[in-house]
Amino acid sequence: MCGIVGYIGKRQASPILLDGLRRLEYRGYDSAGLALWSDGGINVFRKAGRIENLRKAVNEISPFGDLGISHTRWATHGAPTDENAHPHLDQSGKLALVHNGVIENYQILKDQLKQDGHEFHSETDTEVLAHLAGTFYDASDEADLKTRLVKSVQEALSRVKGTFGVAVMHADVPGVIVGARLGSPLVVGLGKDEQFLASDVAAIVAHTRDVIYLNDYDLVTLTRQGYEVASLDSQRTARVQVSKVDFTEDDAEKGAFEHFMLKEIYEQPQSIRNALRGRLNRDECTAVLGGLNMSPMELRQIDRIIFSGCGTAYHAAMVGEYLIESLARIPTEIEFASEFRYRNVPTDKNTLQFVVSQSGETIDTLAALREAKRKGLRCLGIVNNVASTIARESDGGVYIHAGPEIGVAATKTFTSQVAIMTLLSMLFGRIHHLSSTDGLEMIDELEAIPEKIESILKQAPLIKSIAEKYAHAEGMLFMGRQINYPVAMEGALKMKEISYIYASGHPSAELKHGIIALVKPELPSVFIAPDDAVYDKNVSNIEEVRARKGPVIAVTTEGTHDIERITDDVIYVPRCKSILSPLLTVIPLQLLSYYVALARGCDVDKPRNLAKSVTVE
Ligand code: AGP
Ligand code: GLU
Repeated sequence: MCGIVGYIGKRQASPILLDGLRRLEYRGYDSAGLALWSDGGINVFRKAGRIENLRKAVNEISPFGDLGISHTRWATHGAPTDENAHPHLDQSGKLALVHNGVIENYQILKDQLKQDGHEFHSETDTEVLAHLAGTFYDASDEADLKTRLVKSVQEALSRVKGTFGVAVMHADVPGVIVGARLGSPLVVGLGKDEQFLASDVAAIVAHTRDVIYLNDYDLVTLTRQGYEVASLDSQRTARVQVSKVDFTEDDAEKGAFEHFMLKEIYEQPQSIRNALRGRLNRDECTAVLGGLNMSPMELRQIDRIIFSGCGTAYHAAMVGEYLIESLARIPTEIEFASEFRYRNVPTDKNTLQFVVSQSGETIDTLAALREAKRKGLRCLGIVNNVASTIARESDGGVYIHAGPEIGVAATKTFTSQVAIMTLLSMLFGRIHHLSSTDGLEMIDELEAIPEKIESILKQAPLIKSIAEKYAHAEGMLFMGRQINYPVAMEGALKMKEISYIYASGHPSAELKHGIIALVKPELPSVFIAPDDAVYDKNVSNIEEVRARKGPVIAVTTEGTHDIERITDDVIYVPRCKSILSPLLTVIPLQLLSYYVALARGCDVDKPRNLAKSVTVE
């Protein structure tokens, strides 16, 4: 959670920091702040609410300063108020610090500091870290100013338990920003006579595409002229690699769309093409995934697969379970990453683990990866953000290449993850039971998907009118069977996240085991019922809802007109191979939740209480 941006250079820092925060706002948006260095003093601005509030406060004064640090917050400790917004200062008021993460032992440290006469002005864990660093800043130290500041940060961080990405500056130390990370992402941007520090490259890609993704325990010192990376852990040596960012600032802009979410829904034909590009081999009727770093022999030995992820990534993994078990007949399990990390799942040497994550920074998923590796399992990532922590720590994997996803509700990354699951199932399938003709049919069907999505997107006006009809429903049920059960879960998650309508996803047949008690005219049910082997079963479940006066919206296959008789509204998707249907059936559900949220006046891209990247436990 939260976004950090730091700048040191020749330009005015505040516009760069505010623009960077705007681009990171998806990471946290309950309050924001910045600190600027000028003439041996630090100017601090902090505002509850959106970054716009901070911008107004800063622009009233137009403060000077070519060095600064800033933060957009997602509160863990203390309400989102002006006082709790970062940056926080130490007791002397000279050291300013912004922080992403959680200091678990903050209360003990705070009590000790209070006994020593420190006064605190916020309820945050972060302020304790600022005070602690301040106590280690020794003005009488013989070392140069930069070394003094580095030492104070190092000493303070060695005493905290928890996770952090931090940026620190000091009024007495001109021209220096110190950053460090453990468990929260930080990236350094390299410019000419200017350097940047950020939680995500999106914040700085407008200024530079040369970046260093910091690793856990890295401590970086930035000056106008350059950077130094050291390790917080004396047992480790920091490894530095300069990378080139492969997208531009325009990729992270809304363009003509009203919201990022809508833009990202419309990008799906292209993002799926990008996921498939270069990965389909017609000669061998299979998929090619070189990033797995596994030989056909090693792949053949795999007799069990575990997928872990959270939220939407978990739903994509559920689809993956169906795909792999159907096409490759390899027993597959899915596990919430947050549960996997604390469970003691029995595994053997032929078990392969995948972690699925858009951001590549979700702390629970990262912990699941580390737990799998600790057990000696080979663990691969299915990740969107290039060079994210999960991508770097896994033994290999597949990038989904969906491009930046800024809307907090994941859309295009779900379909891209499912596309990758399909490739995996083809790859494993072809090693085991899938015939070459079946493999070829999968390739043809997959390649036709983007165009079919385009035709669904053309139905946006119809979906909008359906959404407006149900926008004030008390709640919603989402039902699906087999491979469309995860789609029902995903549809319900989208609806909850952005419209705040309580919704839940279920296997259709579970209806009569309890859920049917909820059915009434004020509670619509959305049935994902394509024309597949279980279509008739879904129709029977729809009848059961109708009999109890529950309104029904159906998502079904073009040409299946008999369903109109028993439903209130129908959205048709083109015919495709049943096993690929989630790639189509989820699109109307994304649009439905989008238009319901719009009709309810909700902030689609920044739903309340959420943040895009969950880097705290
Ligand atoms: C999806 O709409 C949610 N915002 C959320 O459930 C998300 O999928 C989850 O937090 C996992 O994020 P990740 O893919 O970046 O790991
Ligand atoms: N724990 C800190 C706070 O609540 C930082 C949270 C964040 O990562 O935004 O202020």
